[in-house]
Amino acid sequence: MWLRIPLEKSESMDEDHDKVNNNNPTSETVDSWEWWNSFRLLCEHSSQLYVALDILSSLPSMNSLGRWFGEPVRAAILQTDAFLTNARGYPCLSKRHQTLLTGFFNHSVQVIISGRSNHNVSQVSEGVLSRDENHTEDTPTQHALSPYLDYMAYLYQRMDPLPEQERFEINYRDFLQSPLQPLMDNLEAQTYETFEKDTVKYTQYQRAIAKALVDKVSDDEVSTTRTVLMVVGAGRGPLVRASLQAAEETGRMLKVYAVEKNPNAVITLHSLIKLEGWESMVTIISSDMRCWDAPEKADILVSELLGSFGDNELSPECLDGAQRFLKPDGISIPSSYTSFIQPVTASKLHNDIKAHKDIAHFETAYVVKLHRVARLAPPQEVFSFAHPNFSPKATNQRYTKLQFELPQDTGSCLVHGFAGYFDAVLYKDVHLGIEPNTCTPNMFSWFPIFFPLRKPIYVPSESPIEVHFWRCCGATKVWYEWALVAPSPSPIHNSNGRSYWVGL
Ligand SMILES: C[S@@+](CC[C@H](N)C(=O)[O-])C[C@H]1O[C@@H](n2cnc3c(N)ncnc32)[C@H](O)[C@@H]1O
Repeated sequence: MWLRIPLEKSESMDEDHDKVNNNNPTSETVDSWEWWNSFRLLCEHSSQLYVALDILSSLPSMNSLGRWFGEPVRAAILQTDAFLTNARGYPCLSKRHQTLLTGFFNHSVQVIISGRSNHNVSQVSEGVLSRDENHTEDTPTQHALSPYLDYMAYLYQRMDPLPEQERFEINYRDFLQSPLQPLMDNLEAQTYETFEKDTVKYTQYQRAIAKALVDKVSDDEVSTTRTVLMVVGAGRGPLVRASLQAAEETGRMLKVYAVEKNPNAVITLHSLIKLEGWESMVTIISSDMRCWDAPEKADILVSELLGSFGDNELSPECLDGAQRFLKPDGISIPSSYTSFIQPVTASKLHNDIKAHKDIAHFETAYVVKLHRVARLAPPQEVFSFAHPNFSPKATNQRYTKLQFELPQDTGSCLVHGFAGYFDAVLYKDVHLGIEPNTCTPNMFSWFPIFFPLRKPIYVPSESPIEVHFWRCCGATKVWYEWALVAPSPSPIHNSNGRSYWVGL
């Protein structure tokens, strides 16, 4: 069922104005999103309920419009009255309408043109060829709304084509995936193959390693000093390659240990080392880094054990085990990483999780290429880890509470959960990450993570959202718990890691 709703929201007025007008029933603030929200709550968030938005000549603020991109909008009904007239007499749209329509195109919302034709294009101003000029009795007449349709086609064709990577990822949009568990499970060859295509990631590592090598070995020492570098979690070898290239680029001598616990990856790694003739420089260690007895200590420890939420693939626990064989003045690449979250409206994800008909799926984090979501407030930092950390009091348990304020004029909204990201400092100013404001361009190794809420939470206009997040560590597993506290409390999700955990 499609629910037809006018796209309108009267902007909030200042307090005095509100008071004066409180007795005047005609000045009530209208937010048609509230009508939609009431209806869907009555229908228990039915996954068969969709929205058709009537687009009028005036539009609400951009912040309030953004909410609809997380809702199941199927159609935009564009009234001919919403069109302006260009200098040649043809229909066109305001800049804000154009931006909105482009957003709809990007979200596969179909556009319906409705109303009377207000633009008789055959009588356009002098000197301009009318499209009807050669019209004869035999040629079919144009539909009265054709000029509007032509304008839509023009807007559509004017859009930038999707970058190749985006096109490749189109089938992953809003598709829930279980996060990888590279520690507990052994990754498949195909997964490594996908990693290895991400040249941007390895370029960033190479830059970081080059900087660390230059800091470790001065120009005077290059012919006498050999740096010991250990790649822990080497997979099939791309970080070994990046390390050797960084050494060549900086003219530093390197001795590399490649430590990997996946026996299948180790076989491929052996072939690579032989093929490239790196035997004299690289030693392969088939072991879990947490229990390897290293024959010497490392100057530089290189790893990529990062998940979409930074620490969710247990990089902290693995590196705690590996730093035993890092020299006291040794460098870890990455040197730190931080997770981020932001509240989102994501009705599609909510309905997909609901289809499982159990609580466990609502207490699980998913990796997902977010597309049909409304990001309601800027992301904020959740947990940070720095390496090495030789403090005897160090713990990998964390607890954070965060308050999100929705931007002015957003209006009320519904929160289905939290989108999560990470940013990692590899070394000094070299970073990589997927936090939307600072993300590394053209890097595709990680999609965001999504932490759902069992029950979507209605957030009244101007009310802050408060969420608490825990990272908990047990003897055999690590897990997250999360709960909303404001505007209304939710249960603690995933308590004791009952539904979702990462195996140690
Ligand atoms: C995300 S993959 C990265 C692989 C490779 N460095 C790359 O960039 O393509 C992480 C790798 O670390 C390995 N790994 C994870 N935990 C490990 C541990 N405790 N000891 C050794 N290897 C580990 C996994 O088997 C996997 O090959």
